[in-house]
Amino acid sequence: MDLLDTTVAPASEAELIASLPTDFRWGVATSAYQIEGAYQEDGRGVSIWDTYCRTPGMVDGGENGDVACDHYHRMPKDVALISSLGVDVYRFSVAWPRIQADGTGPANEKGLAFYDRLVDELLRAGVDPWVTLYHWDLPQALEDRGGWPERDTAYRFADYAMLVFDRLADRVRTWTTLNEPWCSAMLGYYEGRQAPGRRNFADAMDAVHHLLLGHGLAAQRMRAAATEPIELGITLNMGTAMAASESLADQEAARRADGLGARIYLDPLLRGQYPGDIVDDLSVRGIKMPVVDGDLKIISEPIDVLGVNYYSSHRFTGVDATGRTEDEDGNPITVNVPLGRPVTAMDWEIVPEGFTELLVRLSREYPGTAMVITENGAAFDDRPDPSGYVADHDRTAYLSAHIAAVAAARQQGADVRGYFAWSLMDNFEWSYGYAKRFGLVHVDYDTQVRTPKQSALWYRDTIRRVRGR
Ligand code: NOJ
Repeated sequence: MDLLDTTVAPASEAELIASLPTDFRWGVATSAYQIEGAYQEDGRGVSIWDTYCRTPGMVDGGENGDVACDHYHRMPKDVALISSLGVDVYRFSVAWPRIQADGTGPANEKGLAFYDRLVDELLRAGVDPWVTLYHWDLPQALEDRGGWPERDTAYRFADYAMLVFDRLADRVRTWTTLNEPWCSAMLGYYEGRQAPGRRNFADAMDAVHHLLLGHGLAAQRMRAAATEPIELGITLNMGTAMAASESLADQEAARRADGLGARIYLDPLLRGQYPGDIVDDLSVRGIKMPVVDGDLKIISEPIDVLGVNYYSSHRFTGVDATGRTEDEDGNPITVNVPLGRPVTAMDWEIVPEGFTELLVRLSREYPGTAMVITENGAAFDDRPDPSGYVADHDRTAYLSAHIAAVAAARQQGADVRGYFAWSLMDNFEWSYGYAKRFGLVHVDYDTQVRTPKQSALWYRDTIRRVRGR
């Protein structure tokens, strides 16, 4: 892929944002383990994140999601907060270990009842529920049986998905199967930076396939069981992968990064096949995707909406600082070369035009794909005043630039129908613990007091303006 060449239309951010249609969907997003707490309540089982957090050295400050934002006990008030932001839709995830403590068997009634109440509360508040079925909290018992590298996990996921679907589909229209399978597979099974913390590349590739298979099996069964029209999809995290130079080594590095980061998911989902160049790269390493006849047909069950999570874009070189092009195992090197942009508290570079480029490219390479931005946002070092208010102009600037980037992509033909800010409120940021704050709403973890930040007020006003009231 070439260096960034997207020309953002010569309009101001405000003009771009104002060009979004009045029926554009606006939301805020969260996930179960990051906000719920109540980790031992009402029959919830142990997830891989409970285990990972208890493994010394894995999470900053030895923190965990035992209490988090205590959302499980504060849900009605949190729904009122969501509604006060004027959003149309709330994206949350269901904790698999609340529904099946060990990942198999009948549903735990108390677990289902919580999401039942949440959905009712949202509908009463005039907010549409958008359910993500898997946001990384695999029941530990299934990991003990091999986890996502094991084919059986895909079937267990589809069974679990149906327990939730059967209970909520009379009120929930929009369903996302998986959130960011790249993170589950690569960070969980290859880099070890997320639960379950394993480090084996071949296992990660098996996990990719079985995550996708789980998605397809669940999608087919939900589609078959639906009595009302539903909107089905999956959420992928992606960015624009640029090459640091025109050299073949750098171009190849960008191709590999894009292949393993995006196309290895997009192609089977939307074209029914794994990308040939990546299959070739893997076979050089002696790795074959564990495809059984018929799998790709299942995985490419048509979806209604592709969820896109965007935070940053990256530039790659195939040559490391010492001039090597291969690592000690003889595999080609792919190294990130910073663009030199300002960064967020995560050290992620702020590259809104990479967002426009990504969306336009997706619309060209996978035509006919309706997209919703299921996450976008930023962590900054928020400094609350004595009342808990955070004047987070940096986050507002980030949101404004990125929503404008979405509007620019729409003007260039990308079919993007909605946007969710990540996140409703500060929460447990996985291996970074609580120090990284992504919320539009500040959470004081000592008191659990929630205080909307300046960005929340800006977001609410922006939604109002776009709707013209
Ligand atoms: C993506 C993940 O889905 C979410 O859980 C996480 O908190 C954000 N990115 C920020 O890292």
